[in-house]
Amino acid sequence: MTVTEPSIDDLASLTSGASAWETTSLPGELDPMVLSDGPHGLRRQPAEGDTLGIGNSIPATCFPPAVGLASSWNDDLIEQVGAQLAREAKALGVSVLLGPGLNIKRSPLCGRNFEYASEDPQVAGRYGAAFVRGIQSQGVAATPKHFAVNNQETDRFRVSAQVDERTLREIYLSAFEHVVTTAGPWALMSSYNQVNGVPASENPHLLREILREEWGFDGVVMSDWGAVSDRVAALAAGLDLEMPPSSTDDQIAAATGSGIISRERLEQVHQRLHLLAERTAGVRSHTPSMTVDVEAGDRVAQQAARESAVLLTNNGVLPLAAPALDNIAVIGEFARTPRYQGSGSSQVVPTRLSTVLETLRESAGDRVSFAPGFTLDGSGDKDQLGQEAVDLARNASVALVFVGLPAGSESEGFDRTHIDLPEEQTQLLDRLVKLDTPTVVVVSCGSVVSLGSWSDQADAVVMGWLLGQAGGKATVDLLTGAASPSGRLTETIPLSLTDTPAYLNFPGQDGVVVYGEGLHVGYRYYDTMDRPVRFPFGHGLTYTTFEYGAASVTATGTNSATVEFSVTNTGARPGSEVAQVYVAANDRTRPRHELRGYQKVFLDPGESITCRVELDSRAFSEWNAQHAMWVVPGREWTLEVGASSRDIRSTASFTTKAQPEALPLQDLSTVGEWLAHPVGSTLIAPLIAAIGDKVDVTSLDPTLYKMFEQMPLVKLTAWGQGFTREMYDGMLSQANAQQAPGA
Ligand code: BGC
Repeated sequence: MTVTEPSIDDLASLTSGASAWETTSLPGELDPMVLSDGPHGLRRQPAEGDTLGIGNSIPATCFPPAVGLASSWNDDLIEQVGAQLAREAKALGVSVLLGPGLNIKRSPLCGRNFEYASEDPQVAGRYGAAFVRGIQSQGVAATPKHFAVNNQETDRFRVSAQVDERTLREIYLSAFEHVVTTAGPWALMSSYNQVNGVPASENPHLLREILREEWGFDGVVMSDWGAVSDRVAALAAGLDLEMPPSSTDDQIAAATGSGIISRERLEQVHQRLHLLAERTAGVRSHTPSMTVDVEAGDRVAQQAARESAVLLTNNGVLPLAAPALDNIAVIGEFARTPRYQGSGSSQVVPTRLSTVLETLRESAGDRVSFAPGFTLDGSGDKDQLGQEAVDLARNASVALVFVGLPAGSESEGFDRTHIDLPEEQTQLLDRLVKLDTPTVVVVSCGSVVSLGSWSDQADAVVMGWLLGQAGGKATVDLLTGAASPSGRLTETIPLSLTDTPAYLNFPGQDGVVVYGEGLHVGYRYYDTMDRPVRFPFGHGLTYTTFEYGAASVTATGTNSATVEFSVTNTGARPGSEVAQVYVAANDRTRPRHELRGYQKVFLDPGESITCRVELDSRAFSEWNAQHAMWVVPGREWTLEVGASSRDIRSTASFTTKAQPEALPLQDLSTVGEWLAHPVGSTLIAPLIAAIGDKVDVTSLDPTLYKMFEQMPLVKLTAWGQGFTREMYDGMLSQANAQQAPGA
């Protein structure tokens, strides 16, 4: 590659876009590249479009948003969706796809939860990595977003997320880390919010130290649209590309002139854009058709939707069979007007849209009757609509009821204030489940809702999330048994909002949101505190049953192991199980247990498979903020194998060795830490002996020992007993030097 020497002005111009959806080019040497949302379908604007999803975009397949797709727990499927998305991107001339969204679902109130995968970093990380692999397999760049700690929409442009470093690393960065280090995304988007008082787009700790230096990211970091307020600070902190364009290139040129920004830094951006252009060159090597393959996209979307829904309860009414199919009452406006995607920048104009009502009518004709039961905007005569629905259900052989959150109640740009379904819907459900007619309820929502007591009385409940354009067909496939449900909850369904871990700290106030629950997000909180939930994390049923064999553990290294167990389909139908492996520390320094591996298996009746889940040392590590490193504590762990966080079928134990063997001693290390340190304890012994010469230690109250253990050893230098600061410093360097080789 010959790169001619561009001027400072040329280089400065590269650090922001040429338009809302295009990077800046350098004639003859660097192509312009088209960027487009988004995470579950292309929102390719025809020309200079708006950024909010209001304007029309070119029709493209609308796949299930992350809330659905991640519930499949199926890496291969997610990869296929990513690849299909990228094929459409190529057809529409898009080089860079703005997704996937990897933020953790901290509270069910976040208006954008439908774009995110899970309350658990491992599920979010595996989802993201599979998605990125799929997209980039076609030569299109993926852009994981929003980096980082962007877990709410309230005040999203300004709010500072106050989060301790351990929680940051273990919960909020972990999915990004997994995706960057295993799937190598070619771009990444920083978020709007601040993290501990520093804007994420101007944050050297996140963008330089962690992303580049620790994780080795080699792609282009772009800002979220409109996130940057200080361009020079952003560039200096490690942001490469400000989007959309701003008219302040002269600030960059001036900062370079005055030495605040080096020419090397600008050249670095130039080279990174070149690398991105090379990686995505295939997109621009042919003329885009500007239309997508509708059939191919719809097929993948239907398969994805089938695996995205989660069967929560079923007393045997599903799959529907005669006589239930004789006279089907379809109830609920969502059966006719589906809610299939979320609102905001990810909104896609679908190529097709299936509905449950049409699909059922195609196969069951006049055996299907319909009553809307309610309107989506709350208009109309509620009593009359409800009564008509109840009358219809009373005389039917089965009532299929479609409820959910209307589009206006959750969206990018604002958070919810409650997690309830609209009252007219719950009132209708309360009446329907009391009838003799079997009732199946399908719920459409982008984030959890609190299912009322009706959910215990319904004959079956399906969490239909948002299933994309083929959701209608897929739902009918699942209800009739043409496909078996195989989704599992990636977020806990709580009993009420007040039970949720961030309840007291969401969405913050006065520009600050404190992540007071720390590591205890989602099931980490509910299971640690033993709080009842409506449905636990990881839960989901299908039309068959599975038995787990006893778990066994084989060490594969000092602190790594393989967990092995069998899963057998003990029912009469084929089906998929998601076998989950949790690691439990059995003490209060960590959450009660944490998901560290899972495997989705498909089994015919009677078939058995041996699952092997690898646990590396990270499964047992924690971020030590004092030493800024991952450490493995030496202790015994319980490895739990099960079908949800609350359905553990088998356990085994595993013991880790402390790694490093001893943490380096520091300025303020306590007497207890010195005594626990292999070298430090030998160095401190003479000191203790000297004190023992002066004080009759045997007569001391034992609580004094405990108190003494908590005291930094260096404090003794102030006591004038001949123990000086110089002696302390000498001991410190001796202890850490001797420890180094074996550590
Ligand atoms: C969203 C991003 C999106 C961008 C471009 C922003 O408002 O937060 O997720 O990619 O707009 O549409």
